[in-house]
Amino acid sequence: MKRAAAKRRASAPPDLAELVRLARAARHRASAPYSGFKVGAALLAESGEVVTGCNVESATYGLTMCAERVAIFKAISEGLHRFSAVAVVADSSRVSAPCGACRQVLWELGGDLWVRLADLKGKSRTLRLSELLPLPFDRRNL
Ligand code: THU
Repeated sequence: MKRAAAKRRASAPPDLAELVRLARAARHRASAPYSGFKVGAALLAESGEVVTGCNVESATYGLTMCAERVAIFKAISEGLHRFSAVAVVADSSRVSAPCGACRQVLWELGGDLWVRLADLKGKSRTLRLSELLPLPFDRRNL
């Protein structure tokens, strides 16, 4: 019984509504003059702290940084190392999922996070990062 409760806790997503709100606010700070596609992310650390990110584009295009990686790099640089969830908000005809590069970096630095994807109209989807990145390559392969 005790173990079942612990397992339920481990597999139940935290309350992600506030995280979506913070990702939405971060999206307003996006610097996306080339694509016009603004993205916001909010990363929840196990400590309860939230670190946000937005996409920041470069005129070279290739140096553009996605919102999710901005958030997790910021968090690591602030000394946070354990995370439980990330929310990603974009204005898209279907909820926008992290790109492949972000999936890899989130996996390596954040582990099997809960991922809440949301648009501006209230549509959302919640899944685990391992569903977005099955069979990952990471330190265990080296
Ligand atoms: N973008 C993100 O911020 N996150 C993603 O996971 C996908 C793409 C940004 C990068 C670029 O500034 C714009 O969206 C269009 O690709």
